Amino acid sequence: MLPLSLLILSAAPLVQRAACLTVTVPLTAPTAAVSVSSSLVSFSIEGDNWPDWVGTSSPNTFTNNVLNNLKTLTGSPPDIRVGANSEDRTLFSNTVPISQTIFPADSVSNPYPEASNVTVGDGYYALSRFLPSGTHMTWGINFGSNNLTAAIDEGKSILKAFSSDAVTSAGIHLDLIEIGNEPDLYGGSKRSSSWNIGQYVSTWSSFSESVASAIGLEAGTRPFVQGLAFGNSDHGAGGFSPQQAYNDGILSTSAGKLITVVSQHHYSGGCCTALVSDLMSKSFVRGNVTAFVPDIQATVSRGHKFIFGETNSYFNHGVPDVSDAAGAAIWLTDYSLFAATLGVANLYFHEGVGYKYNLIQPVTLTKSTEDATPLNPPVAPHIQAPYYGAIVIAEFLGTNSNRTVSELDISSSSTISGYALYGSNGVLEKALLIDSQAFLTTTSGARPSTAVTLKFSGSHPPTKQTLKRLAIGHADDKTGLKWGGQTYETSSGLASGTVSTTSSNVSAGVTISATEVVLITFSN
Ligand SMILES: *[C@@H]1O[C@H](CO)[C@@H](O)[C@H](O)[C@H]1NC(C)=O
Ligand SMILES: *[C@@H]1O[C@H](CO)[C@@H](O)[C@H](O)[C@H]1NC(C)=O
Ligand SMILES: *[C@@H]1O[C@H](CO)[C@@H](O)[C@H](O)[C@H]1NC(C)=O
Ligand SMILES: *[C@@H]1O[C@H](CO)[C@@H](O)[C@H](O)[C@H]1NC(C)=O
Ligand SMILES: *[C@@H]1O[C@H](CO)[C@@H](O)[C@H](O)[C@H]1NC(C)=O
Repeated sequence: MLPLSLLILSAAPLVQRAACLTVTVPLTAPTAAVSVSSSLVSFSIEGDNWPDWVGTSSPNTFTNNVLNNLKTLTGSPPDIRVGANSEDRTLFSNTVPISQTIFPADSVSNPYPEASNVTVGDGYYALSRFLPSGTHMTWGINFGSNNLTAAIDEGKSILKAFSSDAVTSAGIHLDLIEIGNEPDLYGGSKRSSSWNIGQYVSTWSSFSESVASAIGLEAGTRPFVQGLAFGNSDHGAGGFSPQQAYNDGILSTSAGKLITVVSQHHYSGGCCTALVSDLMSKSFVRGNVTAFVPDIQATVSRGHKFIFGETNSYFNHGVPDVSDAAGAAIWLTDYSLFAATLGVANLYFHEGVGYKYNLIQPVTLTKSTEDATPLNPPVAPHIQAPYYGAIVIAEFLGTNSNRTVSELDISSSSTISGYALYGSNGVLEKALLIDSQAFLTTTSGARPSTAVTLKFSGSHPPTKQTLKRLAIGHADDKTGLKWGGQTYETSSGLASGTVSTTSSNVSAGVTISATEVVLITFSN
């Protein structure tokens, strides 16, 4: 007989993970359920390569196809913000037809650097006409260069584009203007090293008031102003944060009165090393987003929307083999829905050309996104693994825009999370289960799975369910994902393959594997 201590040690791996889990699903929307926008998952585009993204002489077909895939599922296309770092490096010239850019040399760690200089003309903003019909946009204006002429020229050109027949007949709407990108990070480069939030509030307000009056922005009329766009927040500790900007009076200045949406940027960390198992971890997703609760509350209580106006996995364009891995699709799904339940109205996933964390690579790439080695042959436009997260969320949200979502209480599991979706009548329609335990190519042993029993609270529980799965080989795979049997890894970006779902009785429960998402649609 073995000594007791040895028995316990040898038993430990077997009890590492519960094989069974009971999840309670309320049949009617709990009071905490939040209304979620069809464009919860939206996109932020680095301004330098915006013409490549959207197309210069005709619409970029690949971009349109992959945005329209989302539009088909929710009924409206994702929102698009253009700007970011390029926003504060952009000057205007009447003699430039679309744009001129100067790019620094690439490197192993930065294969697709951002342009150091961008000069744009009227044609640049007018390319907005090539987006899918119904797209709502946010355009960035340069505050970083402290050049009022540039800012006013840009603002006038934006308004001119959005009052043109070409853009209005294409059904593209200008919702917001953002004046300055990550102004909290200007100190020591664009402003003095002692740059602080008080100086930001006073200089932004006077600069923006000059822009607003020169181009004719008015309170209560589109376009509105998107406030802050800070790179970081100290969550109200007295440095750069929404709370401190409000305390310093930004909302009562004449430019501040034009603000309807407050943006914060968020990345889970910096480049260059990270583990996909950390990125997708249930606790890390919650830790990262929960930190913003005070910022969200301070903003929403003042009647404004709070958004992650620029976000993605890891800043500086992502981490190789992590930001572009299948596990990032799991992360994106849980991160976006969890943020929504805390009151983040939209998440704009940042995209460039060739960035590691892109959901979409809109043009042919001639060098590796991971280390800049030449690609021979070049790689045609394609989606990357995290795109599947956007598809899963779009299908979960569906076309009825009068919906609410709440997180299921699965606190007994450290790896499984879930969300319930309620229709206009407040009745349960769907649930989404996410298992964020990383099953890697290096994981030994059988793939862990959990038998989930759904227990309903309320009367008239559904009896039948249809299951659709996001199938992933391994969390560190980059390709080969399938959503209900279909792939989006096609040359057009359109889905290929036959839709595959399974129907069963609700009483049969749902088995979910490590690194998997299951969409459950209920019926009677
Ligand atoms: C690029 O921008 C920098 C900073 O604004 C400026 O100093 C430089 O002259 C610009 N270069 C060109 C070639 O326009
Ligand atoms: C300010 O912006 C205008 C218009 O974009 C540009 O022509 C001018 O060169 C800029 N001034 C500086 C100092 O960069
Ligand atoms: C955010 O997520 C990253 C992993 O992606 C983790 O390293 C970091 O600790 C998390 N932050 C918080 C506050 O939980
Ligand atoms: C939206 O849903 C709520 C309940 O969730 C309901 O009270 C309201 O009437 C619905 N509105 C529309 C326009 O269907
Ligand atoms: C569902 O349950 C009914 C009644 O218990 C049974 O007859 C039927 O075969 C079940 N359907 C499936 C797909 O298991």
